[in-house]
Amino acid sequence: MGQGAAVDRLMAGMTLKEKIGQLNLLPAGQGLVTGAQAPTTLSQRLDAGQVGAIFGTKSLASARAMQERALAGSRLGIPLFFAEDVIHGHRTVFPLNIALACSWDMALIEATSAHAAAEATAEGLHQVYAPMLDISRDPRWGRVAEGPGEDPLLASRIAAAATQGFQGAGLGTPERVAACLKHFVAYGAPQSGRDYDNVSMAWEDLIETYLPPFAAGIEAGAASVMVAFNAVNRLPMHANAPLVEGWLRGCQGFDGLVVSDYTGVKELVAHGLGPAPVAVARALHAGIDMDMVGEDYLNELPALATEGLAARTAGLAMSPAAVRRLIDRACRRVLTFKARLGLLDDPFRGMAGKAPARAEGRALARKAAAQSAVLLKNDGLLPLAPGSRMALIGPFAADRANMLGTWAVSGRAEDVVPLDRAIAALTGQAPTVCWGANIVDEPWLEARLNCHGTTVTRDPREESALLAEAVAAALAADVVVAAVGEAKEHAGESSSRLAVDLPAPQRRLIAALAGTGKPLLVVVFAGRPLALGEAATQADALLYAWHGGVAGPEGVADLIFGAAEPSGRLAVTLPAHPGEVPLTYACDTTGRPWPGRFGKFLTGWLDMPDDAPRFPFGFGLGYSAVRYGRPILCRHAAHADETVTLLLGIENTGNRPALETVQLYASDPVARVTRPGRKLIDFQQVALAPGEAREVRFAVTADQFRYPMAPTLETVEWVRDPGMVGLHVGPNSRDTQEVALTWLD
Ligand code: NOJ
Repeated sequence: MGQGAAVDRLMAGMTLKEKIGQLNLLPAGQGLVTGAQAPTTLSQRLDAGQVGAIFGTKSLASARAMQERALAGSRLGIPLFFAEDVIHGHRTVFPLNIALACSWDMALIEATSAHAAAEATAEGLHQVYAPMLDISRDPRWGRVAEGPGEDPLLASRIAAAATQGFQGAGLGTPERVAACLKHFVAYGAPQSGRDYDNVSMAWEDLIETYLPPFAAGIEAGAASVMVAFNAVNRLPMHANAPLVEGWLRGCQGFDGLVVSDYTGVKELVAHGLGPAPVAVARALHAGIDMDMVGEDYLNELPALATEGLAARTAGLAMSPAAVRRLIDRACRRVLTFKARLGLLDDPFRGMAGKAPARAEGRALARKAAAQSAVLLKNDGLLPLAPGSRMALIGPFAADRANMLGTWAVSGRAEDVVPLDRAIAALTGQAPTVCWGANIVDEPWLEARLNCHGTTVTRDPREESALLAEAVAAALAADVVVAAVGEAKEHAGESSSRLAVDLPAPQRRLIAALAGTGKPLLVVVFAGRPLALGEAATQADALLYAWHGGVAGPEGVADLIFGAAEPSGRLAVTLPAHPGEVPLTYACDTTGRPWPGRFGKFLTGWLDMPDDAPRFPFGFGLGYSAVRYGRPILCRHAAHADETVTLLLGIENTGNRPALETVQLYASDPVARVTRPGRKLIDFQQVALAPGEAREVRFAVTADQFRYPMAPTLETVEWVRDPGMVGLHVGPNSRDTQEVALTWLD
């Protein structure tokens, strides 16, 4: 029987209660308790046929047991599907997504997603709550760690690569899973960077910056979407029919499954759109097919389906028949998802899966870690020669747990090889390790950071004693490596920070180490782009390593000793000062740009020095030197239906291999509204052997210059301005060469 027919047959035979049960999405929580103990809520629900899917099962055995229980509890034998937060790897934890984005390597991102999918299916999982596609230009927001960075083009390519990696040839492909694009939408732009806070922005910004990665994920075939906690322009996403049913399904043609976020339907009440029956009606009407955790669909829909909803209470009238139609719509989507996964044919599909070889995963994780770290400064210190005496100082020198980063729910700290051991294994020489500074010095903050675990440990001695020991270790060494940064819990859900700089005790440590005059490499392990302040000046070399996953420190060791070449490029701007947020390289032009000719009256900050160490989007160094020739256009004027070729010679003039990311930006100096001073429109990664020269070609089309004018979401018009535009090509968003092109029409 075809998938559609199987779904039709089930729909025809299901009771209202059974249909509502399919919309209930529960956590595995305490699992199934049998025997003398009281059964868990989950097992009661399964027995009553009131669960559509479960997330967080954590083992194949538990998924299998739950599937058997669900089948026994379902009159029509409808199976569950199993989901999990597989955000940057599953058992093999890869670098944070923001770090992977800094690789700019789509094949790598696809490979890490495919590996995670294979590990997930081996544990009976069918859907992953990834890729997370929230563009964020506000480093205060802790979930910047999980996302693709600040740029819509880079994020869109990542969306496609990750979706492809997770899903392979499509749902039902062995060892692949269903992707779930999240969090739809604009979750990364909350007011003041506070997680869960609402978003108010021009429709143009939503359409041009925040929606494209979702469009790209859908285009790549993503099978599901999770909506965000926040409101967009006053309408919470869990009730946002114009964006979910309208844009996502209507404009993009998405025909998959939409799930709520954790208790997101219930939270409509706190948003002020309740009470519960009204919240449920709004969410169902908006196109949220499954209700995660809150059970409000389960509790409210039976009455709504018999009584309907009066306009008086909600501003949204619904007859009982209308409610039943919406329940049918959602249930059909859940069943179609299961059919596409192959579960209606075989509820245990994939459950005998074999996990991919661990060694393979580790090798990929190590490569990914090396490619994700960004070398920001190198005054000739790196790569280090083996044999020098190294003092490795800082709270992350021998750390395992923090290296996993946020949302590594299936990772294990014991799988991490910490930096001191990674260095010893690579060079045969163990560094002198010294704690140097606590991660934070406020006990209350430490307690908060530890509320989900104990990743922040502390040396109880006075700071002066810690620093004295660190300085002594530095003085006895030939080279000093400071391993500093943020704890795992510093960045992630509900982990927004007010001031995005290195925690104060670690800043003092770096200053003390710099004071010894010894060559100083600062390695930053973090979940967000931090303002590095003085540390960037004090260090002789600076490596931004993020939280690199199980092989993060090994990737760092490979880089600092030259066993791997640095090739990472920032996917987010690193602020010069913590007060300079939100920020992006792609800000719209103003009448008084900085730097400029208006003296003090500039679009900048009075108290920001001109030479403040800001690291621009796209920036990163390698160990070789790549020379850029002059960009040449095949023609300087073209009609809108023509493609213009931009040619550029690049040459590796150094004596080491290089992986160069050539970036192409556009500007539109004569537009009808303000436009970004630079906007990434294409990039290519080119491997160059020492001495090798290559020609890079970009195909430039008028479409790349289109932008939305949108008084409302529904009335968007994509426009383009004939006349002169700028093309800026270079190794990052700042250091570019410009050529002018004229669109004749
Ligand atoms: C809440 C988070 O916002 C979301 O990203 C995650 O997938 C769900 N919880 C499930 O754990």
